[in-house]
Amino acid sequence: MANVLSNQTKNLPRRRFDAVIVGAGGSGMRCSLQLAEAGLNVAVLSKVFPTRSHTVAAQGGIGASLGNMSEDNWYWHMFDTVKGSDYLGDQDAIEFMCREAPKVVYELEHFGMPFDRNPDGTIYQRPFGGHTANLGEKPVQRACAAADRTGHALLHTLYQRNVRARTQFFVEWMALDIIRDSEGACVGVVALEMETGEVMILEAKTTVFATGGAGRIWAASTNAFINTGDGMGMAARAGIPLEDMEFWQFHPTGVAGAGVLITEGVRGEGGILLNCNGERFMERYAPTLKDLAPRDFVSRSMDQEIKEGRGCGPNKDHVLLKLDHLGADKILKKLPSIREIALKFANVDPIKEPIPVVPTIHYQMGGIPTNVHGQVLSTTNGQNQVVPGLYAIGECACVSVHGANRLGTNSLLDLVVFGRAAGNHIVGTNLKSQEHRDLPENGADVSLSRLAKIDASSKGERVQDVANDIRNTMQTYCGVFRTDELLSQGVSKIMELAARADNIYITDKSQVFNTARVEALELANLVETAKATIVSAQARKESRGAHAHRDFPERDDANWMKHTLWYSEGNRLDYKAVNLKPLTVESFQPKKRTF
Ligand code: FUM
Repeated sequence: MANVLSNQTKNLPRRRFDAVIVGAGGSGMRCSLQLAEAGLNVAVLSKVFPTRSHTVAAQGGIGASLGNMSEDNWYWHMFDTVKGSDYLGDQDAIEFMCREAPKVVYELEHFGMPFDRNPDGTIYQRPFGGHTANLGEKPVQRACAAADRTGHALLHTLYQRNVRARTQFFVEWMALDIIRDSEGACVGVVALEMETGEVMILEAKTTVFATGGAGRIWAASTNAFINTGDGMGMAARAGIPLEDMEFWQFHPTGVAGAGVLITEGVRGEGGILLNCNGERFMERYAPTLKDLAPRDFVSRSMDQEIKEGRGCGPNKDHVLLKLDHLGADKILKKLPSIREIALKFANVDPIKEPIPVVPTIHYQMGGIPTNVHGQVLSTTNGQNQVVPGLYAIGECACVSVHGANRLGTNSLLDLVVFGRAAGNHIVGTNLKSQEHRDLPENGADVSLSRLAKIDASSKGERVQDVANDIRNTMQTYCGVFRTDELLSQGVSKIMELAARADNIYITDKSQVFNTARVEALELANLVETAKATIVSAQARKESRGAHAHRDFPERDDANWMKHTLWYSEGNRLDYKAVNLKPLTVESFQPKKRTF
């Protein structure tokens, strides 16, 4: 029987779908494709046109042990992923992902994705950081590449397939909050059409978050401006914990001063990192894999070189990525966008001169806890419970296949493996035969109150000032190397900023396309993800993967081999066990990581 809806909620326009997917990047569109092809009525919401989602910026490749260049197999891929994760990844999920990898890549090939080709017609694969043959013995070529525009090729392929499958896109729509009923089930989202400012309820039997990461909580980031942690913000406000948020990957090669990504594929193709003495310093830190050690390793080594005075340039604040020795032909064929980026953002032509680079925030390993089907999990007293009707996939989710440090190319892989898996699981629940759950009374009132407060504000702080202060605080107090003192100060500052974010006003309420309102709404999501990150980081008293703590320089498996769960309510932390048990093989036992 239908509830009596409160006036505010009742007056909103409503539409009903079998499934609503929030986000049109690689994971969202891989999932929607599965659903639309199964005949479900599926809506995909996106703040931008789908092919402008951040997946488009992925460059170097998608990992899969096709073995096109030399022998390879999923078990070696699994080993590299577990070791890369510094043993925090759940080994059942990692086994699942690595086994699925060849299948999902061949599927993309059959969808028409324009991969580079070997002379025999097979997909070209390049070396990448941490990819090895025979359990760490030597590098292997596992990154399936479409030049240095793999994400672009993938996203366009998925968009075209979705158009064919009649997925319905809501372009330039922002989801504000999920609606949960009295049993905690998700029954849809409240969403804002960015152009008109219209608010609508999208009722759904299943809601899927595919909202990407929150790289814009940092000042220097390879991430798009849309990456404001919207899924994490919505989850946190709805009482769902965020997992392992202290683990953020610094990509070793962001253009110094600009933050734009220079793919690891450059080093895969033979590029090398040099300090001010012209020394290939990675030979000292990682004698076997050298410049192709995993990212946490390379970023820390670069930071060390700079801190010890061997950085380059007048301020000795970056290192150099040299690739001129690859030759113009190879650069123009395999790395054309990199040349363009270097010319535009660093004013150097890499055919002739090296590119100045610094470690730059790139990827969040944590996110909304899920199982391998993408179902969102809430955890009480160590017991996982599925949140009915809610899934999360891609960078906003933590399944956890990346643990404390992701292996390069496993991000695109994660998107398609778990986008597809969630799609299959949803199709298996036979949504067509299910009724919509009742929309709860007041279901949209929280979102409407948030909007009303923003619209009514006439004094306070500018949204951009608070957002910039959050970014600078995170950068200063939660960087490549962390300390107790820095983290404690950072927590206080972020808490002060959270209070300031409650007292904002927007300067021009009549702005076309509601951009000021959208930025104000995004700020609430930046606040949740920044709090989750720095509070979780301050609590973890060890160094593991991307969490490098100067006061606790060693990994501490006895006390810290566990996943962090952060709850917005009460700013509270909890922990849950890492799953060290794979599906069919023996566990990889934690060892010291050397490369
Ligand atoms: O370096 C890159 O091309 C980035 C790849 C990734 O993050 O997986």
